[in-house]
Amino acid sequence: VERDLRTLEEVREAIATLAVRGAPAIGVAAAMGLVTSLAPHAAEDLGPFRARVKAHARALGAARPTAVNLAWAMRRMVVRAENEAEPRAASGEARELLSALRDEATAILEEDRAMCEAIGRHALPLVPDGARVLTHCNTGALATAGIGTALAAVYLAHAEGRRVRVVACETRPLLQGSRLTAWELAQAHIPVTIIADGAAASLLAAGEVDVVLVGADRVAANGDVANKIGTYALALAAERHRVPFYVCVPWSTIDPATPDGAAIAIEQRPADEIRQVAGVPVSPAAVHALNPAFDVTPGGMITGIVTDRGVHRTPYRFQ
Ligand code: MRU
Repeated sequence: VERDLRTLEEVREAIATLAVRGAPAIGVAAAMGLVTSLAPHAAEDLGPFRARVKAHARALGAARPTAVNLAWAMRRMVVRAENEAEPRAASGEARELLSALRDEATAILEEDRAMCEAIGRHALPLVPDGARVLTHCNTGALATAGIGTALAAVYLAHAEGRRVRVVACETRPLLQGSRLTAWELAQAHIPVTIIADGAAASLLAAGEVDVVLVGADRVAANGDVANKIGTYALALAAERHRVPFYVCVPWSTIDPATPDGAAIAIEQRPADEIRQVAGVPVSPAAVHALNPAFDVTPGGMITGIVTDRGVHRTPYRFQ
């Protein structure tokens, strides 16, 4: 589904309701959305316009708390607005600043594309001919501006003629695995099998998985990783059965300002996402439900963190 988003509220709502989701994609969408939301105000004086840039960036940045790419992209846009405004202020209007912000958003998008390719190249040796890859949530083209993070290596391996098979956890409660990962891979003619999240440990135990590849929403300075709820359970099972567990992220997902996983804000989503399946109630309406959207996997359990700069190994020290 393609949606045309222009106003601040349209973009904020699309991010908050996961119409656009995936850490890199929401950073790119927010940067682009910030520009479109500012466009009607280009005739304002620079002072009020710069205040508006900050206010819009704050509103978009608050749409979801866990993926650092969103805050990172908004901070980058605000810094560009601050640095760009004075020297170009001849007319007093904000038109030139708006154009600079459009350039910055485009750069964020293009850099994300390039980072996806680089992640894929660094992770390619993890996906040899015949590899059986287990993944969680959606980390492909629908989650980024490019070919994805964890799925980038799968796409590149397939393009090279390697026979790759993917097992995708359905990813309750919003089913990004069944709805997005399975759809993307089927479009690309890459064999994919969806499983209930609870089936993953038994597949790992049975030796039916060669490598686990997942993405992340934030990587703390010590390598602790926040990713879609259920990732930690996969890491525990992979460690128990000695299956390599890799996290693939662009550098924009690394957050050196967050010392460890305990400092990462975990998004709590509406209880009805648990009480319902695809909008159909399946439990007593009043039953208490908990819906954390992400969990934290300790860096020490992660075989390697693949970024666009290479493969990083424990002990992680991101700066
Ligand atoms: O709630 P979502 O669908 O935005 O969660 C997305 C994930 O957890 C992804 O694994 C993560 O953002 C990495 S995407 C390349």
